[in-house]
Amino acid sequence: MPATVGVLLLAGGGWYWSTSLVPSTYSVMDMGYADFGGGPEHEHHGSTGTSVADLTGPATGDPDVDVRLEARQQAFDLASGERVEGYTLNGSSPGPEIEATVGDLVQVTLVDVDVSDGITLHWHGVDVPNAEDGVAGVTQDAVEPGEEHVYRFVAEDAGTYWYHSHQVSHEQVEGGLFGTLVVRPPAAAGDADEPADVVAAVHTYSGRRTIGGRTGLTPVLAEDGAPVRVRLVNTDNGPLRAWVSGGPYRVVAVDGRDVHEPTDVSGEGVLVTAGGRVDLLVTAPARVDAGAGTAVVVGPEGVEVPADPEPQERVDLLSYGGPAALPFDPDQADRRFEYRIGRRIGLVDGEPGFWWTINGHLFPDVPMFHVTEGDVVRMTISNDSGGVHPMHLHGHHAVVLSRNGVAATGSPWWVDSLNVADGDSYEIAFLADNPGLWMDHCHNLDHAADGLVAHLAYAGITEPYRVGGSHDNAPE
Ligand code: C2O
Ligand code: CU
Repeated sequence: MPATVGVLLLAGGGWYWSTSLVPSTYSVMDMGYADFGGGPEHEHHGSTGTSVADLTGPATGDPDVDVRLEARQQAFDLASGERVEGYTLNGSSPGPEIEATVGDLVQVTLVDVDVSDGITLHWHGVDVPNAEDGVAGVTQDAVEPGEEHVYRFVAEDAGTYWYHSHQVSHEQVEGGLFGTLVVRPPAAAGDADEPADVVAAVHTYSGRRTIGGRTGLTPVLAEDGAPVRVRLVNTDNGPLRAWVSGGPYRVVAVDGRDVHEPTDVSGEGVLVTAGGRVDLLVTAPARVDAGAGTAVVVGPEGVEVPADPEPQERVDLLSYGGPAALPFDPDQADRRFEYRIGRRIGLVDGEPGFWWTINGHLFPDVPMFHVTEGDVVRMTISNDSGGVHPMHLHGHHAVVLSRNGVAATGSPWWVDSLNVADGDSYEIAFLADNPGLWMDHCHNLDHAADGLVAHLAYAGITEPYRVGGSHDNAPE
């Protein structure tokens, strides 16, 4: 290190941030600048209070669902036979489908067998207690080869979710270190009247689009006329366009939240945000296409359902379904934030480039959104960056209030992952009811690795973990 840098370091950490250099080790609490969204200000460096590490799920009690996941870095065969390089959990990718019933205590023991960069598991869309959120350098240290880490949380909300590594996530998720989690309502468990149910995790391995690790067609047995719930999970970096052939269908859930009064759809496809989930209720025989020749084909053995061409139109969740009361009043917001995504030429960590900006600022000089538990929060997410950004807030579900000034009129549209296309501006609202320190980032994980990352911090929280450090924590 040149002597001048050493002197400046001694003069205080501020120098690094002001020139957009990223220290090798830092607390995300110290990133950027505090944004209180017009609400009361509080001490924001969090030197006293509750540690993120203490915001765990239940420490005692026998788990209802107990899973051990062993992560390896290896070449492996897809379910359809092609060999790819990447990562596995218990020998395959996707990893095991985890199933739980509302109220279950879920325990997952993650073992890093030989992933040299270390790993974590983030429960995407599950609003877990903060210490179970699985973000390296924010809610835990990366689990290194030979180590294990236990996650424990109660599955409170029925829905379709997924889990993935949040250490070097842009490489590890793309390489296959993920799986799905389905939480079913208590009545549905073993209830013969419930529709059959299939998880369709869409992922592209080395340029091969797959559903559940299978290229081409995935048959699902169902009697003619039987309703089947197809749970689409988009684990890729870009938006997924899916469509149904064989008859009308309904969009029954989005991001693990039921749609209120869904209506029949025909002649329209659906868009699944990167990281997002959309549950479709189809009637056998039917076929759900996920592009690049992949489809779930639902029906009796051997049934063939011809694929319709992809429709031009897609279901608009802003107006789909019937309205229902919200659990809080967005008109009584305690804080209002702006998350404006742009792009400009500049230096990030000394590297010249055409970088993403948040509210005009380059990483890591980005806003830290500060809230107090119980706040009703409104946020405007806008994008004039020239790209699509699937924005993901950890630990919370937000409801979409409007898009480009047009108010939502359909079912409450709850999201944890929102596709914000170039030129779009969304107003969302959420209740700050899950204390901790939460990422709020783009789920095009390559964009996140390029700095499209901010955080939501609750008053009275302290952060014991560091990005970098002895575990080489690298959440993006
Ligand atoms: Cu799917 Cu920050 O994660
Ligand atoms: Cu992005």
